[in-house]
Amino acid sequence: MEIIIRPSPEECASIGGRIIANLIKGKPDAVLGLATGSTPMPLYCELARMHEDEGLSFSEITTFNLDEYIGLSGDHPCSYQYFMNKELFSRIDIRADSTHIPNGEADDIESECLGYEQAIRSSGGIDLQVLGIGSDGHIGFNEPGSSLASRTRIKTLTGKTIEDNARFFDNLNQVPRHCITMGVGTIMDSVSLILYAFGERKADIISKAVEGPVSAMVPASILQLHPRVRVIVDEAAASKLTNIDYYKEVYVNKPDWQE
Ligand code: GLP
Repeated sequence: MEIIIRPSPEECASIGGRIIANLIKGKPDAVLGLATGSTPMPLYCELARMHEDEGLSFSEITTFNLDEYIGLSGDHPCSYQYFMNKELFSRIDIRADSTHIPNGEADDIESECLGYEQAIRSSGGIDLQVLGIGSDGHIGFNEPGSSLASRTRIKTLTGKTIEDNARFFDNLNQVPRHCITMGVGTIMDSVSLILYAFGERKADIISKAVEGPVSAMVPASILQLHPRVRVIVDEAAASKLTNIDYYKEVYVNKPDWQE
C-alpha cells in the first residue's frame, strides 16, 4: 500500500486526477471503477476541470460504479445514477452508453448482479477503481462481515450506514435498506485502486483498514492484500495512523521514475 497524506482534499484530488489522466493518456479506452458519497466529489471536480481546461477526453473510457440503492429510480435525486450524472458524467465528454451503474429497480436482482459481473469481464476488467470508505469500514456497500471473496450481489445496509447516509435524504426512514454492490472479490480484481478518505471522522477507520489486521469485520482492510493500492488521505483522516512520519518520508523521497 502506498499511503499519500496531503493537507487538503483538493490536493488529494489533484493527485488522483493526475493518475487518471496518465492512465487515459496511455490507454484511452481505460475502464474506471467509480464511487459515490461526498468523498470522491473533489476528484470529480478535478476531472471536470481537466476536461475543460486541459482537454482531457473521456470519450473512449468505460465506467462501472460500485453500487446503487435498491428501489430508487435513476432520476431520484438520492440515487447514485443521479449523483453520477450530476457530479461527473454531465461535466465530461463520456458516452452515456459507456457508463454502468447497477439497476436498483431491476425486477430480477440476481440476474442484474450476474449481468453486472459479466459486463465488467466483457469490458476487459477494471483498470483503476476509486473507493471511499464507510465509517464502519465498508467499501462499495460491503458491510462488516461481508465475504472477502464476494461478487456483485444484494446487501442489507447496517444501521450505522443508514444513519451516515441519512444526511442525503429528507429523513432516516427514506434511506433504502437494501442495495446492489460489487463484491469485495470484484473490487479486488481491479488492476489498481485508489482509496480516498477525508476528515477526522474517518481517522479511526483508516487506521484500522491500513494498519489493523485483515478482517471481514473491516472490509477495506482486504486492500492490504492487493499489490497496487494508493490510500490518499488528508491530514485529518491520517491523524490516527501510527507510521505517519514514515509514509510522509516515503512520499517526499519517491524517486521520479516511480511516478
Ligand atoms: C456510501 C457508499 C460508499 C462510500 C461511503 C462513504 O455508503 N456506498 O461507496 O465510500 O458511502 O461516504 P462518504 O464519502 O460520504 O463519507
